[in-house]
Amino acid sequence: MSQKLSIEDLSVGAVMETTFWANPVEESGFRFRATHLDGKRAPKVVLCDDPRIRPGVPALVKITLIKRPERDDRGAIVVELVRHQDFKLEGVYVDPVIAKKLQVLLESGQNILLDGPQGCGKTVLTRTIAKNLGYEFVFFNCGAVVEAADFLATLHLRADASGAPVTDFVKTEILRCLEEAHEHSHRRYLVFLDEFNRCPEPARNALMPALDSTRKVFHPIRNSFLDIPDNVLFVAAVNRGQQFSGTFGIDAAQLDRFAPLQVTYPPIAEEVKLLMQRHPELSKGIVEDVVDVAHAVRTAPELRASLSVRATDEACIYLKHPLFESEQRKALPEVMKSSFCGRFSGFWDDPSTDAGAVWLVVEKAVAEKEKAS
Ligand SMILES: Nc1ncnc2c1ncn2[C@@H]1O[C@H](COP(=O)(O)OP(=O)(O)O)[C@@H](O)[C@H]1O
Ligand SMILES: [Mg+2]
Repeated sequence: MSQKLSIEDLSVGAVMETTFWANPVEESGFRFRATHLDGKRAPKVVLCDDPRIRPGVPALVKITLIKRPERDDRGAIVVELVRHQDFKLEGVYVDPVIAKKLQVLLESGQNILLDGPQGCGKTVLTRTIAKNLGYEFVFFNCGAVVEAADFLATLHLRADASGAPVTDFVKTEILRCLEEAHEHSHRRYLVFLDEFNRCPEPARNALMPALDSTRKVFHPIRNSFLDIPDNVLFVAAVNRGQQFSGTFGIDAAQLDRFAPLQVTYPPIAEEVKLLMQRHPELSKGIVEDVVDVAHAVRTAPELRASLSVRATDEACIYLKHPLFESEQRKALPEVMKSSFCGRFSGFWDDPSTDAGAVWLVVEKAVAEKEKAS
């Protein structure tokens, strides 16, 4: 239950904490409003018009004016922004330097290219920070794009009432977002282009004018160009593990439209912490074993393989299950045959394949652990 503040608790000049949202009352002259101060319900609406305010992010504010203090039903508390407070990213690990850079780029409206191995948290990280900064998050997987128009609409074949075939254009999430962004200029949208390097070059090229100062895309349903409003931002992600280097086909001109940011797997201790939060049934020792072996796979010079946090997470799911939990240590190699080796081509018992090469590293790392214990 949140308590309520009374007007006597407040004074001009006091510094308090609050979180703003866009003010639905547009004619009020204040873009942002809040209902709480220092975690308690405020006796009047809290208003601020500072354009630096980031909706949804906790902020320190200073009271500059209390309007109509004598009335319970009217008035307002007008505040100025002191500064935003750092937000907490629950359940997500992010390198503090990367988090800062990402925040700066997002706030200054840059398109961003996140470059990092499979499953290191590019998607969860962007989704979480975007939400914290008050963006609507639009996820789009570029892996399914064949030609340029696919970014905005796809053709669907269906039967009409008489059974005759008709084709419909179905708008993609991106097109729906662009249209919505035109209608709601006070909302902000972040379009996440996942696996950006997996769509064919010509399709990617057609998207380029959307990303540079031209800010236009061809609307395949209306047959005309559509402006990309300023309240839409693009973040593209590419999976670049060593073994995928051949598919990183983004040329210099395309790259130049983005601010590049490289990310990688969490440090061992942080990944252990993440997994312990998700699997409190497991002992720290066994979770450390899982992450240590994953780390060996990720860093073995002969492999430099990408091994997603999904893989370590999956290993924990096996190990905590009653079918495995009585002999967790013994089950470790077996679990890794599927959760680790299974993510690579070939077979764990065929050393000439990627899966087999991963198995050799797993086996060695597990043996070293046994020796050490
Ligand atoms: N840094 C991280 N913090 C928290 N969870 C993570 C992190 N990295 C990966 N994960 C977990 O692994 C899964 C894959 O992460 P994801 O963000 O999809 O990776 P990517 O987009 O880099 O391929 C997520 O669902 C999440 O559960
Ligand atoms: Mg992803």
